[in-house]
Amino acid sequence: MGVLCLVLLCAAVCCGQLRVFNLRAKGLPQDSLGITDGYVRVICRNDLVGQTSVRKNTVDPWWKEEFMYYSAVENSTLKLEVHDEDLIWDDLVGTCLSQVQFGTHQNQCALEKGGMLYYDYTLS
Ligand SMILES: *[C@@H]1O[C@H](CO)[C@@H](O)[C@H](O)[C@H]1NC(C)=O
Repeated sequence: MGVLCLVLLCAAVCCGQLRVFNLRAKGLPQDSLGITDGYVRVICRNDLVGQTSVRKNTVDPWWKEEFMYYSAVENSTLKLEVHDEDLIWDDLVGTCLSQVQFGTHQNQCALEKGGMLYYDYTLS
């Protein structure tokens, strides 16, 4: 009983459910071979939540994956890293940081090496 109360209390008080979805990018830079194979890594509170598939040879990729994270709170840092897959070394195209807020939000951010990332999230 005591443990159950503790678990319920934690779920109610400290931990929100974060869903990250509808990730897409526009105008990603091309590498020296003129190819962009983009993917996104989703990180929350320094935990790797997941990674999208690689969208081959497009500068305007979208990803259908959704990510769930159950230990988010208001103002938790959500970090999205956009990478370009290469044979030898994957390039980091840019990093998007935000402090999550309750509700559903549409975000966009400019990537350091060019292009934009768009994504939605819901914190509940
Ligand atoms: C979140 O950040 C805002 C603005 O800095 C602050 O007013 C609020 O108290 C913070 N909430 C929590 C739970 O830390």
